[in-house]
Amino acid sequence: MSNPSLLILPGDGIGPEVMAEVRRIIDWFGDKRGLAFDVSEDLVGGAAYDAHGAPLSDETMARAQDADAVLLGAVGGPKYDTLDFSVKPERGLLRLRKEMDLFANLRPAQCFDALADFSSLKKDVVAGLDIMIVRELTSGVYFGEPRGIIEEGNERVGINTQRYTESEIERVARSAFELAMKRGKKLCSMEKANVMESGVLWREVVTRVGQDYPEVELSHMYADAGAMQLTRWPKQFDVIVTDNLFGDLLSDLAAMLTGSLGMLPSASLGAPMANGRPKALYEPVHGSAPDIAGQGKANPIACILSFAMALRYSFDQGGEAARLEKAVETVLAQGHRTADLLGEEGRAPISTSQMGDAVLEALDASL
Ligand code: IPM
Ligand code: MG
Repeated sequence: MSNPSLLILPGDGIGPEVMAEVRRIIDWFGDKRGLAFDVSEDLVGGAAYDAHGAPLSDETMARAQDADAVLLGAVGGPKYDTLDFSVKPERGLLRLRKEMDLFANLRPAQCFDALADFSSLKKDVVAGLDIMIVRELTSGVYFGEPRGIIEEGNERVGINTQRYTESEIERVARSAFELAMKRGKKLCSMEKANVMESGVLWREVVTRVGQDYPEVELSHMYADAGAMQLTRWPKQFDVIVTDNLFGDLLSDLAAMLTGSLGMLPSASLGAPMANGRPKALYEPVHGSAPDIAGQGKANPIACILSFAMALRYSFDQGGEAARLEKAVETVLAQGHRTADLLGEEGRAPISTSQMGDAVLEALDASL
């Protein structure tokens, strides 16, 4: 049988440098654990625009559809800010999500013990935090029609449409309930049913799906109150399910609870393919960080942990995923810190590749 295929799209900014460390980790699993992948690389975002005039070529899109899993670094940068909307680097990412139909975006926010002091919140509020945000990723205001900027009288009007069908709500709700069953059996759904019809429907459908999961304790919150509760006492949550835009905001908020955006991975999952694996794209929650790109300062952990999620959700290698996550925990406990993980401590940070070295050492030590 041939090896499972991994398509790597490093993208822009710090994407290529953090992905270089992930490549070493992937090789380690091939050498030491007999988990070999057929790895290939391609362009996305600004890098693809520079090469082809589009942030994702049709060829790359087709390769992503065929891959067993896609691993993406980051897209975007100031150089592309003035481009037309239709060819902005972000459109490459949105096209992948939409055409692969990756409707369930899993964004864990976990606080590593070694970093609890680093959160802007008090230590007892975040220590041991382990929540999962499930963000709907292929619909809502990101994709709803009509959209655009139109002329009306003597001024322009910007229009976007929040739109959710029942089936779109149902499938992401089901993913969230399934996850809750494997975790703490608590699910909180967030919308704005007090002002939005789409929120009313969201709440109704999630409640209906919940009847199939009587063991899961389901609650509902308005998304603004949810944001407040996330900063007040985040440990009250286990799994949160929410729409595309609220999920974008709430997942950044949840991420920062843990101390650094440089730590958090994500998985975007769609329907099962013929081989039973879900369509899947894995990417760090952080962006392309153009201000530090190319300087070896970036923290590769979010991207490394994204590969751990790939091991778990695409390749049924939960044990090996846990090995990699444990290695990251060890490295942090040992005190290894990239620049984003240092406050005003006056210590010299380690580089991107030194962090990669440390994780590889911890992996060796795990054998
Ligand atoms: C994210 C990002 C993206 C989004 C951008 C880069 C299009 O913020 O993945 O959270 O808004 O979804
Ligand atoms: Mg975002």
